[in-house]
Amino acid sequence: MDFIELEERYFINTYKRIPIMIERGEGVYLYDTNGNRYLDFLSGIAVMALGYNHPEVIEAIVKQAKRYIHLSNYYYMEPQIELAEKLVMYANEGAKVFFGNSGSEANEGAIKLARKYFVKKGEKERYKVIGFKNSFHGRTIATLAATWQEKYQKDYIPLMPSFKEALFNDISSVEALIDDEVAAIIVEPIQGEGGIQVADEKFLKALRELCNKYDIILIADEIQAGMGRTGKFFSYEYTDIKPDIVTVAKALGGGLPISAFIAFSKVKDVFTYGDHGSTFGGNPVAAAASIATIDVMEKEGLIEANIEKGELLIKGLQRIKEKYPKKIKDIRGKGLMIGVELYEECKDMVGAFREKGILLNCTHGNVIRLLPPYIIEEEHINTFLNIFEDILK
Ligand SMILES: Cc1ncc(COP(=O)(O)O)c(C=O)c1O
Repeated sequence: MDFIELEERYFINTYKRIPIMIERGEGVYLYDTNGNRYLDFLSGIAVMALGYNHPEVIEAIVKQAKRYIHLSNYYYMEPQIELAEKLVMYANEGAKVFFGNSGSEANEGAIKLARKYFVKKGEKERYKVIGFKNSFHGRTIATLAATWQEKYQKDYIPLMPSFKEALFNDISSVEALIDDEVAAIIVEPIQGEGGIQVADEKFLKALRELCNKYDIILIADEIQAGMGRTGKFFSYEYTDIKPDIVTVAKALGGGLPISAFIAFSKVKDVFTYGDHGSTFGGNPVAAAASIATIDVMEKEGLIEANIEKGELLIKGLQRIKEKYPKKIKDIRGKGLMIGVELYEECKDMVGAFREKGILLNCTHGNVIRLLPPYIIEEEHINTFLNIFEDILK
């Protein structure tokens, strides 16, 4: 029986998998079991920032695994402490960190923290969370309720009742929802699954002002856009606003599962012993991989370089758009988080790219999503652009 039949037999089939079996990865390339090589423009959905087998990440993983693979969070662990210190350095202003395992879990924790802030203030009736149309915050019951996309929510009605939907980049839709019960607003400064939609600076500033005015906790979900992908460590740094809580995951662990919510001054001391926890959260091997990943990004200037690489990609894409104005509707994004919106659905195009040796995906129906590893070079960008043009021809 082949792997496709085996998967169908043994798995709860929630993933529409691509019919290839990957044998191994090497830098920006993946190889399948038939010996085909693919240039990777998806990075395991924004995870593998340094490619598939960066020697320094592997070395850090092996070194830590030889010391201990897991400890209870009852004990102190050097890799966790070092990673927390690094994240706080990037977040600034004496923030504090809680480690989890996945993006959804980080957002869950952030929502709990926001609610606890009001419980501590004696305002128990403040528990509502405003999220945005076309956002994506995860698949758990609470984060799903904040994820305002019908396809994800429709089979789970009633959703958790305390979540409300506003329109992205439309501050009046947020104002209309504000009442005495709103505790938090959760926003992706760049929506990923929603089709690479960038929040206007004016909108984010207005959100911050609203939150200041009504003492609402602003949560920035940087799970896809953070960790340097857009050319800044956190994508909200393109503005001068600061959230009260920021969530990160995906590229944080260099491929191993780890996430964090980082709390700024207003909420950083709200949780106390026993308020939150996770058996695996902040796994020391994942934390070691994370430190190595950030070290390499710093040493090689990869975060800043993402700006230039992104510009190269966008320039090339714009040239193609001028040639094929009836195919490409819009090109948008920051750094190496780019969406190419087509006039038609893009799922067939993903197959065409794969046949020509490029892996990427299609999101929101008609947006080709580009999330290449930070280690791509100009030659990879040119290869991608040539193939894209070939396909459009
Ligand atoms: C912005 C954003 N938030 C949250 C999540 C959920 O992360 P996870 O799948 O690790 O739970 C994702 C995953 O795609 C995401 O893109």
